Amino acid sequence: MAAGFWVLEGMDGSGKSTQAELLVAELEKAGRRPLHLREPGSTGLGEGLRKMLLDRDRESWDARTEALLFFAARNELLRSQVAPALVEGRDVVCERFTPSSVAYQGQDGLADWVLALDRLVVDQDLQPHGVLILDLEPAVSFARVGGDEGHDGFESRGLVFQEKVREGYLAYATANPQRTALISADGLTIAEIAVQVLQAVEERRQ
Ligand code: TYD
Repeated sequence: MAAGFWVLEGMDGSGKSTQAELLVAELEKAGRRPLHLREPGSTGLGEGLRKMLLDRDRESWDARTEALLFFAARNELLRSQVAPALVEGRDVVCERFTPSSVAYQGQDGLADWVLALDRLVVDQDLQPHGVLILDLEPAVSFARVGGDEGHDGFESRGLVFQEKVREGYLAYATANPQRTALISADGLTIAEIAVQVLQAVEERRQ
């Protein structure tokens, strides 16, 4: 079966990294050679931008400036990592992608503007085959990352911000029903969530 581009999404504290690792392990067990990436990051430029963007002591930037920097990291990741891996027939498992930009930078009327950037940067054949959103109540997410003491600049923006993040994810899921699976990350064990993630991937493999 063809290789696929799989994106793990969700609010801070939803368990994306754990689920990405479990998915990678399952794909390896099935004899595949998955490439595990994260956004922003996984390239020299991406890791550099990550340090700047997540620094909780940095000055506050306009949401469009932030989005452009996330998309600069995304473009580099797509061209240097994702596209070559897919050409080699490897699965790609990426923690965060455009849906994060919709949810975090697309608030307060900017969602369409973020989607326009996505159309410019992400060619049709590089769109994810599956976006797996680990859905969590904002209050649970907020508590898991330590409330106002959240450890990066996005985690410490408060509960109202996290509520808008969730709305952004739900809007993305509604607009992209085939590509997206909404998986509850609350009340299930890690193993139970992993089963749903794997199932969502296999259902979307072409
Ligand atoms: P993450 O790697 O989940 O952080 P951590 O390692 O601390 O769990 O995500 C980094 C932060 O970047 C997260 O708070 C969300 C934010 N982000 C955006 O705001 N827009 C984006 O496009 C991306 C990819 C991330």
